[in-house]
Amino acid sequence: MTESRPIKHITNLLRSDLPPAASRWVGFPEFNFVGGNNDADSVPLKTLAACAEAVLMREGRNLATYFLASGPMGYLPLREFIAAKLALRASYLCDPADILVTTGSMQALDLVNSAFLEPGDTVIIEEGTYGGAIGKLKSAGVNYIGAPLDEDGIRIDALAGILQDLADKGVQPKFIYTIPTVQNPTGSVMPLARRQELLSLARQYGTAIFEDDCYADLLWEGDRPPTIASLDQEGRVLYTGSFSKSIAPALRVGYLIADWPVMSRILPLKKDAGSGALEQMVLAEFGLDHFTRNVTDLTATLKGKCDAMVAALEEQFGASAEFLVPKGGIFIWITLPDGVDTTRLAQVAISEGVAINPGAEWSANAESGRHRLRLCFGNPDKQTIREGVRKLAEICRRETGIPPRSGNIDH
Ligand SMILES: Cc1ncc(COP(=O)(O)O)c(C=O)c1O
Repeated sequence: MTESRPIKHITNLLRSDLPPAASRWVGFPEFNFVGGNNDADSVPLKTLAACAEAVLMREGRNLATYFLASGPMGYLPLREFIAAKLALRASYLCDPADILVTTGSMQALDLVNSAFLEPGDTVIIEEGTYGGAIGKLKSAGVNYIGAPLDEDGIRIDALAGILQDLADKGVQPKFIYTIPTVQNPTGSVMPLARRQELLSLARQYGTAIFEDDCYADLLWEGDRPPTIASLDQEGRVLYTGSFSKSIAPALRVGYLIADWPVMSRILPLKKDAGSGALEQMVLAEFGLDHFTRNVTDLTATLKGKCDAMVAALEEQFGASAEFLVPKGGIFIWITLPDGVDTTRLAQVAISEGVAINPGAEWSANAESGRHRLRLCFGNPDKQTIREGVRKLAEICRRETGIPPRSGNIDH
């Protein structure tokens, strides 16, 4: 291991403001309910392999040039596929020329943050939101304010209060970051009327909306409302999506859509000479028909896993675990009684092979998330889900007395 090398250390030369040091990866825990991992059996291997062969034999020589002879926005056939998919599945008509292919939607978040945010700026996020987004805002030195959620997403009355409060203090929030379709972590879907209200509030207070549709293709309950971006007539909405959840996260392909006056300022910040070419080519070749078939099958599989986790939670935690049954996606956001500290629970659980996301890391206000947790059911099989939830309940009972013995019998 390089730690023991007899060399003079250079760590004293590192920047003083780096984040905490990484730990070595030690493999997945036995019951892995963290992260946005997906169902392994649903990765469409044969089709991806056939697409890779076809596109490489036909256009592989373009790999000799940076940007695949498509320019810095990304491989054009992929941008055309994304535009067709959004038109068909999300009623969102956009020009492939406004779509930037990114290395996962995480890069889209980084680019938008870099283009809009300076230390001390203010943004509005959802009270429960993607922990990765919170982490990025923290390291950007930005103030973030959590807007309360209900079963339909951001509460518009509360958001109006926050915006007015900021206006009274002379603070201009840079954007409202929202995950309106299959929200992370709650799994809710914002109805059309609320999307329209959100947009008109943003207009009234002169702020932007950053719409993150990472899980939007994994909806199994109800119709998919149009994107907020599609309702926007003035270029107020920045939009990001990803193939991580609909095909596979390790591919690292996402996209960012914005009108050119904004995109032309964002593009120079993407300094990596293009996202991975092979993945872009294979996904473009995969195309809309395979995509539609894949997400139909994947969504049915995920719904089955979700049902298994819901049943396991009810059986093991009974009334001690409150949650909305998600309308799609890969997560359940659970509220335990006030006395449970899930940050501590997560530490104990991981030492016994159960990984959970503590709610504090997924909450704008860490304190309000202290007794919440997020479980991902995307990757483990149903048996692992059942066993893992039983083990988590045992650990939680031992550590906190919650849930009382035999959750659903006692309540
Ligand atoms: C809401 C949300 N946005 C963005 C991302 C980033 O995903 P990726 O970079 O794999 O597209 C995630 C990952 O879990 C997420 O949950």
